[in-house]
Amino acid sequence: MSESAKIIIDGKTYEFPVITGSEGEKGIDISELRKQTGYITLDPGYGNTGCCKSSITFVDGEKGILRYRGIPIEQLAEHSTFVETAYILIHGSLPNEKELTNIRVMLNDNSLIHEDMQIFFQNFPRSSSPMGILSAMVNTLRSFYPELMDSEEDIELTFLRLLSKARTMAAMSYKISKGHKVVYPRPDYTYCANFLNMMFDSPVKPYIIDEDLVEALNTFWILHADHEQNCSTAAVKVVGSGKVNIYASISAGIAALWGQLHGGANQAVIMMLSDILKNGGSVDQVISRAKDRNDAFRLMGFGHRVYKTYDPRAKIMKSTCDRLLSKFNIDDPLVDIAKKLEEVALKDAYFIDHNLYPNIDFYSGIVLRVLGIPTNMFTVMFAIGRLPGWIAQWKESIDDPDWKISRPRQIYTGPNENNYIPILKRK
Ligand code: ACO
Repeated sequence: MSESAKIIIDGKTYEFPVITGSEGEKGIDISELRKQTGYITLDPGYGNTGCCKSSITFVDGEKGILRYRGIPIEQLAEHSTFVETAYILIHGSLPNEKELTNIRVMLNDNSLIHEDMQIFFQNFPRSSSPMGILSAMVNTLRSFYPELMDSEEDIELTFLRLLSKARTMAAMSYKISKGHKVVYPRPDYTYCANFLNMMFDSPVKPYIIDEDLVEALNTFWILHADHEQNCSTAAVKVVGSGKVNIYASISAGIAALWGQLHGGANQAVIMMLSDILKNGGSVDQVISRAKDRNDAFRLMGFGHRVYKTYDPRAKIMKSTCDRLLSKFNIDDPLVDIAKKLEEVALKDAYFIDHNLYPNIDFYSGIVLRVLGIPTNMFTVMFAIGRLPGWIAQWKESIDDPDWKISRPRQIYTGPNENNYIPILKRK
């Protein structure tokens, strides 16, 4: 017999089906709640609200588990590449050699940006945030590359265009912001090596590809590739649910990611660590500000809506960080501060009681610094990494026969009906 949940309202019992996921998590299907009872649920921040059934990513926040299509993140970080991980997320299974080669060829073939688009990049004020530029330019892609969705091949082409061109545009916006010549993608480089080359190659200083840096970037992007129904993914799906084109949906996701409570935290962490360094290096003041209920300050890179233990991505990021620092013999004072901060916070009763642990953003900024990425590009790096997840989630939602336009309800608390008063009669 299938499981159900009973809700009693005004003495009357209503029964709703319980849906069980493949990992045993349970949800009450209340899609008929309002129709049957006249009531709605109220859940600010949606901490208890599921918006879909999904077979893409599994997160267990209590145990610190993250899997893409069933494969643990630790295995992907060790053995896969970002391009292969993107394939797994979007297509649902591991590619064979032919499929992997095909996606690589298509990423290369679609890596150039229409030359006319450079005019837009040139005209953003130099002080523009690269996140704003990326969001605007991804939306603009629609004008240059009409969304093709009629066949499987068309859909694949649209997805790969997005993956390839967003990376080229990110590097291009950096070069233009510096007033430097744009570097074009090269067919002989992999996706990650190409990005680093487009960012850092210069006519006066050729960029030498370092395989350890390429590997670190692969890891960084694999770790960011999806995280089920987070703020930016929800934005992609909400916007997409109105049946707008995929470029506009992804552009909305980039805008959502920009915020410092979400993807912007990687930049905020480095700014926080730099401030601590500037103020003498002691972490005590920051810890006590984070604990003070009258202070809006939060320890950046700590805490997570879902993880109530150490974020599994943060563990991998921390070891990538250690590996890079030791290989390049880097002595970064911000790393010492980060480690001290983590040590103090993890022993502090406030952080223990609130289940606050480092999240992915705590060490990712240090890894990006070693790669040479400027701080204002950190969240753009996150956005490129999250593209496969946004695309996979968008595709899953438009293919879902139960999918409806997103339209939450509310409990109205404003004035009751009253009359319009002509201006001369108002007191
Ligand atoms: N520093 C200090 N206190 C914190 C922190 C923090 N970083 N995070 C949460 N808390 C406290 C809150 O003050 C609250 O305390 P209270 O119950 O005593 O009032 C309690 O923990 C619960 O916090 P909420 O804000 O309700 O938790 P929520 O799930 O809504 O927020 C969030 C999650 C936004 C990530 C939060 O932990 C935070 O602001 N962290 C800092 C920003 C950050 O690192 N963001 C990146 C997240 S990962 C990502 O998006 C990729």
